[in-house]
Amino acid sequence: MKDTKLIQIMDGEDDGARAEMLQKAGQIIREGGLVAFPTETVYGLGGDALNPDSSRKIYEAKGRPSDNPLIVHIANMKALPRIAADIPEAARKLADAFWPGPLTMILPKTEAVPYETTGGLDTVAVRMPSHPVALAFIRESGGYVAAPSANTSGKPSPTLAAYVAEDMNGRIDMILDGGQVGIGIESTIIDLTVTPPQILRPGYVTREMLEKVLGEVAVDVTVMKSQEDCGQAPKAPGMKYRHYAPAGELVIVQGQPEAVTAYINSRAAEDMAAGEKVGVIGTAEVLDEYRANVVKSVGSRMDEESIAHSLYAILREFDDEKVTRIYSEGFSAEGLGQAIMNRLLKAAGHHVVDLT
Ligand code: TXA
Ligand code: MG
Repeated sequence: MKDTKLIQIMDGEDDGARAEMLQKAGQIIREGGLVAFPTETVYGLGGDALNPDSSRKIYEAKGRPSDNPLIVHIANMKALPRIAADIPEAARKLADAFWPGPLTMILPKTEAVPYETTGGLDTVAVRMPSHPVALAFIRESGGYVAAPSANTSGKPSPTLAAYVAEDMNGRIDMILDGGQVGIGIESTIIDLTVTPPQILRPGYVTREMLEKVLGEVAVDVTVMKSQEDCGQAPKAPGMKYRHYAPAGELVIVQGQPEAVTAYINSRAAEDMAAGEKVGVIGTAEVLDEYRANVVKSVGSRMDEESIAHSLYAILREFDDEKVTRIYSEGFSAEGLGQAIMNRLLKAAGHHVVDLT
């Protein structure tokens, strides 16, 4: 067991103490240790991306299979040529438009990137996050921080340092607590080694936004369909695992709002009569309609950002409250809704009741 230090490091506090903490965190990374840090999407579990031992330690701390490659986080464009063997025009355009920010690009890797970091692949996933703590930490760490989401395998990505601590206490050297993250779901991943470029994981940067910059962009079919339904494995190795499955059985109900609330209430009544503890993930507009043991608002239907922001925390809360059945409203597969539905579908093992 390690003695995991929890360090508060909020934005704005640009004093000497903050700089010293970031230096300390960077030193841990340069010496081969692990530090969790806030990004604008979710908390990351960082190690030196160019050190194979660090990547091995990350897999161990997460309890994650080592064929699941890590994203390399950089703090400026000058860092890119050392890890990407080819930087196509499309990558430069996307960097101009979305970096620093919640976009990860898949590019051919150089020899500097160990296969331990890329899970044996000849490509590397690269992202320049926009969170000021993340950027400062990456700089102090030598410029290349490999970081998966800072949850243990099978838990939702952490949106609060307290969730990181729940999963990682005793397993890593330090947690930088930067408060609650802004976006709440992981970055969009786009593969630039294929034509047309392909979205492997939807996120805050939507297909529509990417197409404005690049023209045609494809979406991996496995983003919205189960592996069984489309007969192929996701191209992002990590997407094949059933992440963030809540302890309770999760069912997504799609349809007109009145039909959805009526259906969920009748199923919930049956389940509760059978002794289940039932949770509902509903939108603010219809929340009062639900009758279940625990009803949680995931945000407003008019504001998908609010939904992305609270989804993972709600899944963790349902685990804490030991609900055994969860019903969730469904969302549109357009814009940010695609990322929300993708995460919900995975959490539900694609268990959907479609009333349309
Ligand atoms: O927002 C995020 O991206 C967060 C923060 C910490 O930056 N990170 C994150 O990392 O979500 P992780 O490891 O939980 O998810 C990375 C995903 C996995 O599904 C992995 O398979 C995929 O990226 N990936 C990484 N390298 C890849 C590659 N070379 N080719 C295809 N997929 C890759
Ligand atoms: Mg993850």
